[in-house]
Amino acid sequence: MEKKDIDWSSLGFGYMKTDKRYVSNYKDGAWDNGVLTDDDQVTISECACVLQYAQTCFEGLKAYTTEDGKIVCFRPDLNAARMSDTCKRLEMPVFPEDRFVQAVVDTVKANAAYVPPFGSGATLYIRPYMFGSDAIIGVKPANEYQFRVFTTPVGPYFKGGAKPITIRVTDFDRAAPHGTGHIKAGLNYAMSLHAIVDAHNQGYAENMYLDAATRTKVEETGGANFLFVTKDGTVVTPKSDSILPSITRRSLMYVAEHILGMKVEHREVYFDEVKDFAECGLCGTAAVISPVGKIVDHGKEICLPSGMDEMGPVTKKLYDTLTGIQMGRMEAPEGWIKVIE
Ligand code: PLP
Ligand code: COI
Repeated sequence: MEKKDIDWSSLGFGYMKTDKRYVSNYKDGAWDNGVLTDDDQVTISECACVLQYAQTCFEGLKAYTTEDGKIVCFRPDLNAARMSDTCKRLEMPVFPEDRFVQAVVDTVKANAAYVPPFGSGATLYIRPYMFGSDAIIGVKPANEYQFRVFTTPVGPYFKGGAKPITIRVTDFDRAAPHGTGHIKAGLNYAMSLHAIVDAHNQGYAENMYLDAATRTKVEETGGANFLFVTKDGTVVTPKSDSILPSITRRSLMYVAEHILGMKVEHREVYFDEVKDFAECGLCGTAAVISPVGKIVDHGKEICLPSGMDEMGPVTKKLYDTLTGIQMGRMEAPEGWIKVIE
């Protein structure tokens, strides 16, 4: 199969229309068979529940070309399971998890010409999503839904790729206790837009959100979990019921403990501790592991000892191991890699 003529190495994290997308409709209590289509447009009622009450959720995962030329994706079953959890919390019908994985496989296969080549620095981002599509005016869930999957080739989420970024502690809250922070609801991102625009305007790449109840504990950023490394080499990730259970973070913790033999801790992390860490990174599908060099708290700078030039050594080891597994350079734990073709 011939690849599209795309300058892969200059891609940022943006949308590019690819050839095919998957669509399945839910009506009268059942999902239809679903199809791949060329049509990238969505036509819905002006009163669709998604437009009035933001009844929408999504997932994000990637397809990679391995060194030996296969196309694979990483742990799509976990994205399927997380979307089920999200749907239950948003009163949306679950799209069966085996069908979710198959829809991802079919969509990637149909867009194989857009999967960036091995070593190009780019990947194919896969975006499954669902929304309430019929007219709803009283506050209640929709009766009809659409589940779709599109793909788009992407480069690094943060400009500069692996260069450390500067973030700030924000006064805005991302998620309330007992709210929706632990699921991938569109509404979590809508409410973060003002905070991210404001952060960008002030020269910061992202926001560090603290817990809404006490503002003493580290939660996450708008689109990634935190990962810290202590001065004695322990990998620490924040635990909270209001952050998204990142598949990348869970995978990295496994890699750190079981492949690299490191000590790991998944626990509450107080903001006061951050100044004592040796390294900090943001982890997620889009972010992979993006190193953080500086955290600004209302004018007070916390400069991580790993500096602003490159990733710290532990972050780098984790990054190399994770991407090594994803790109087929290293053996993956059982069930982590789904071969597409
Ligand atoms: N946290 C938030 C708020 C996110 O949007 C994402 C992205 O999906 C993540 C964390 C990272 O999760 P994952 O590693 O499953 O992509
Ligand atoms: C992802 O990493 O897949 C996400 O959904 C993060 C998003 C903010 C781009």
